[in-house]
Amino acid sequence: MSNKKDDIFAKPVSPLPFRFDESVAEVFPDMISRSVPGYQSIIRNVSKLATHFVTDNSNCYDLGCSLGAVSLAMSSGITANNAQIIGVDNSSAMLERCQHHIDAFKHSTPIKLIEADISKLDIQNASMVALNFTLQFIAQEERASLLQTIFDGMNEGAVLILSEKIRIEEQSLDELMINLHHEFKMENGYSALEISQKRNALENVLVPETIESHHQRLKNVGFSSITNWLQHYNFVSIIAVK
Ligand SMILES: C[S@@+](CC[C@H](N)C(=O)[O-])C[C@H]1O[C@@H](n2cnc3c(N)ncnc32)[C@H](O)[C@@H]1O
Repeated sequence: MSNKKDDIFAKPVSPLPFRFDESVAEVFPDMISRSVPGYQSIIRNVSKLATHFVTDNSNCYDLGCSLGAVSLAMSSGITANNAQIIGVDNSSAMLERCQHHIDAFKHSTPIKLIEADISKLDIQNASMVALNFTLQFIAQEERASLLQTIFDGMNEGAVLILSEKIRIEEQSLDELMINLHHEFKMENGYSALEISQKRNALENVLVPETIESHHQRLKNVGFSSITNWLQHYNFVSIIAVK
């Protein structure tokens, strides 16, 4: 994958909302690994979960696939026969680079890419679905219907991996987690200016919810087995089994 350094917010920029455009796609692997605590651990474990959950002749969906890290991790773990992976994103800049990455890495399970809005997608015969830091970018009022569509398209025993930045209900703890996350970014080479400009750009674009809201919504759409399998500061990954 491209390892170009993320310096998008290094100089003063005009205050525009964050977009997954060409400039972000170009530096995305560096941006996500220096910004999201636990990201590499999630990717490694997607592979293990794929070994466990993906069944013969089924579909795996990577929703908001960006450059395909989750799709490739699924592919490396799948031992089932005749499964296929469908990566979906609505950013053409991301998908163009994603196709190059997929072509460059060996993968035995086929990966098909679709440019589409995931909230208008048809999901069928799924044994694994991943929303790895994507739901937080979907309008809050559309999140329940997207999760319902996903649940309805999943087979019995299938797994949803939902990773999100979260908000902590208690304000003092929320502030603590935000500060620890900013320290994490500083340790990874981001300046105070970069951190504050990115935070402003993400305001109202990335809308975090509490872990309780996520669990409740998952229960409401029908999931009965739900657990957080990873938390690092205000970043959580949940698995929900149908
Ligand atoms: C933080 S990135 C996801 C990271 C990726 N899943 C990974 O693990 O490397 C969010 C992605 O979701 C995509 N996205 C946001 N809203 C979307 C929508 N409504 N439909 C499809 N893709 C969307 C963005 O273009 C972006 O590539």
